[in-house]
Amino acid sequence: MHVTWRQLKVFETVARLGSFTRAAEELFLAQPTVSMQVKQLAEAVDQPLFEQTGRRIQLTEVGDALYATCREMFDTWARFEMTAADLKGLKRGRLRLACVTTAKYFVPRLLGPFCDRYPGIDVRLEVANRDAVVERLARNEDDLYIMGTPPQHFDIALHPFLENALVVIAPAGHPLAGEKRIPLARIAEEKLLLRERGSGTRMAAERHFRDHGFVLKPRMELATNEAIKHAVAGGLGISVLSQLALTLEPMQGQLAILDVEGFPLKRHWYVVHPGKRDLSVVAQTFFDYLRDEAGALLPPDTRAALLSPGEAHDARVR
Ligand code: PGA
Repeated sequence: MHVTWRQLKVFETVARLGSFTRAAEELFLAQPTVSMQVKQLAEAVDQPLFEQTGRRIQLTEVGDALYATCREMFDTWARFEMTAADLKGLKRGRLRLACVTTAKYFVPRLLGPFCDRYPGIDVRLEVANRDAVVERLARNEDDLYIMGTPPQHFDIALHPFLENALVVIAPAGHPLAGEKRIPLARIAEEKLLLRERGSGTRMAAERHFRDHGFVLKPRMELATNEAIKHAVAGGLGISVLSQLALTLEPMQGQLAILDVEGFPLKRHWYVVHPGKRDLSVVAQTFFDYLRDEAGALLPPDTRAALLSPGEAHDARVR
């Protein structure tokens, strides 16, 4: 089969974007050139790579297999380029990160100094809720994932690097605000505002209450921590949120943290990567940076959340 690198690159772009027009835009090519490259590749494979359903194009079975092959090939090649640059003493290449919504309070802050130090590293950060990040992990779309609730039954390596405590918040002046050791039963009766389904914060809160015999029935679901904080401050109810969402973006006296039995709920932030493959040079560089230097770069309030070397140890889940 005679195929060229360029044909594969064009095909991969069309398959990824699901559109010849958008692929042409991304590659700065004319659309007929894109169509011609894909046509020649299909001739070499001797089977159609796409089929048209209405106005959409879809990969055929062989197209799908070729797309997976292309992604692996380009990934392997990108790793080689990073290794070659590393051998010349340069850190260069692409770093694909994905983090859960709540980690957006600190991950972007850590990227500034990292990008200053390694200008040759091109970073892309995706932010989505926990379930969406797990889907990305399942599709192997990124190099590293930062999350608080790593999936079980995936072959992944994980390293905890920061505490991720969850607290119960109420509007300042709430009747429970001054009470000590409030029982979970009392909280379960309150009007609760929870993050959307698929959120790691919600999953951890529901699991904790369920383990103690309570099923949480939210009065309202809100898709961001900010919306929750404002809704709580506005008196709509109480909620469970990551402490980082408060220390890094406080609501200036509008919220109270309740002293609830079993809270703060101690959890961790993990950096996760697929266990099967070694990290690329660039991903390893970010991993080391996160492990060794994240603490010094976070605001002083959050440093207490840093794990000591004894607490932070790598693990492998299968
Ligand atoms: P979330 O995840 O932002 O999807 O709620 C946070 C976590 O797992 O702690």
